[in-house]
Amino acid sequence: MTLNPDILSLDAEKVEKLRRDFPILARTVHGVPLVYLDNAATTQKPLAVIDALDRYYREYNSNIHRGVHTLSEEATDAYESARRRIARFINASEKEIVFTRNATEAINVVAYTWGRANLRPGDEVLITEMEHHANIVPWQILQEQVGFTLRYVPITEAGTLDLSNLDTLLTEKTKLFSFVHVSNVLGTVNPVDQLIAAARAVGACVLIDASQSVPHMPVDVKALDADFLVFSGHKMCGPTGIGVLYGKRELLEAMPPFMGGGDMIREVKMSGSRWNTIPYKFEAGTPAIAEGIGLGAAVDYLSEVGLDWIWQQEHALAAYAYAQMAQLEGVRILGPGPEERAGLVAFTLDGVHPHDISAILDQDGIAIRAGHHCAQPIHTHYDIAASARASFYLYNTKEEVDKLTAAIEKAVDVFGF
Ligand SMILES: Cc1ncc(COP(=O)(O)O)c(C=O)c1O
Repeated sequence: MTLNPDILSLDAEKVEKLRRDFPILARTVHGVPLVYLDNAATTQKPLAVIDALDRYYREYNSNIHRGVHTLSEEATDAYESARRRIARFINASEKEIVFTRNATEAINVVAYTWGRANLRPGDEVLITEMEHHANIVPWQILQEQVGFTLRYVPITEAGTLDLSNLDTLLTEKTKLFSFVHVSNVLGTVNPVDQLIAAARAVGACVLIDASQSVPHMPVDVKALDADFLVFSGHKMCGPTGIGVLYGKRELLEAMPPFMGGGDMIREVKMSGSRWNTIPYKFEAGTPAIAEGIGLGAAVDYLSEVGLDWIWQQEHALAAYAYAQMAQLEGVRILGPGPEERAGLVAFTLDGVHPHDISAILDQDGIAIRAGHHCAQPIHTHYDIAASARASFYLYNTKEEVDKLTAAIEKAVDVFGF
């Protein structure tokens, strides 16, 4: 993936056109136009997705897989067609796409099924210091139950992974190397190919937390050769309540089920049960039908806009924001420079709490995030409790970045140092 820090590459005309697809962007907050820069938390939804949800409930709302009536068949077709399109989006087979509630649940599925079946005392699981809590806590919980060792790749002061001791951290004891593709705080784009090759060399399984990459750049699971990869629908123009666990077919087939119930079985007798084929073995109970269909509409939308274009656009926007914000007195930006960064900028402001920054910006209609962004170890590393974060998506503009920097300057004036 080539990085393009050239602000001149921003395609303002296309962005203006895309913005019209998102009804919420027309609203005002405190009497001024909304500037939505909280996309790493969740993104806005285009009409194509809103309409897909609306159509499902108005025209063919029905339970799937087990009905033999027209509505149920239409709903099943739409849901399974969405699965096929999502599979194509990341170059997987539809059998390898397990629908979950979100990325968090997808990681928990791997921990509770693959982890329980494969991890023993004496084994090691390697994660990194820059993980979201979703890729830390499930392993800590399992560690208590199973007794393996959990190790962390540290981060450098610059906010990249410190790989200088990788060969002592990643050994034949390591059964799983699980890491974030793009950090939701530092914006760091990790060298996935290098990390996967290192894991392969010691025979470790690989899980990629792609929550902040799949929505923003082309991701090809076959080319990566990842064993597991997870992401959330709501961070990529889709609805909440739907996420994806990609797993290699042979791994999913060998794994025990996650939850028991309807749909995940082939046969139930009072003496015992047999499981359904993948991916249904991991999808107990009535799933999030409308949301699955909505995520299908979201990947169609993103594919039409173009993932390469989205990446270049956001990258240029983040580079511009970085350059503007780095000039402001008292601003400290977390993470690497613009060349190694995805479309987000987390920062602190001397003497001003991130919550106060966010509250001041809100007065100007600007939505950013303040807090630890579910990544406390990163903040501990920098000896801070929290940070403010502006994160971009395909509909953000250079003018919105200008409003952001002007509002930060205002916060400096109000709170001083
Ligand atoms: C890198 C990363 N991983 C995991 C998650 C968890 O996503 P969800 O809350 O949708 O499960 C997030 C959400 O912010 C994230 O940024």
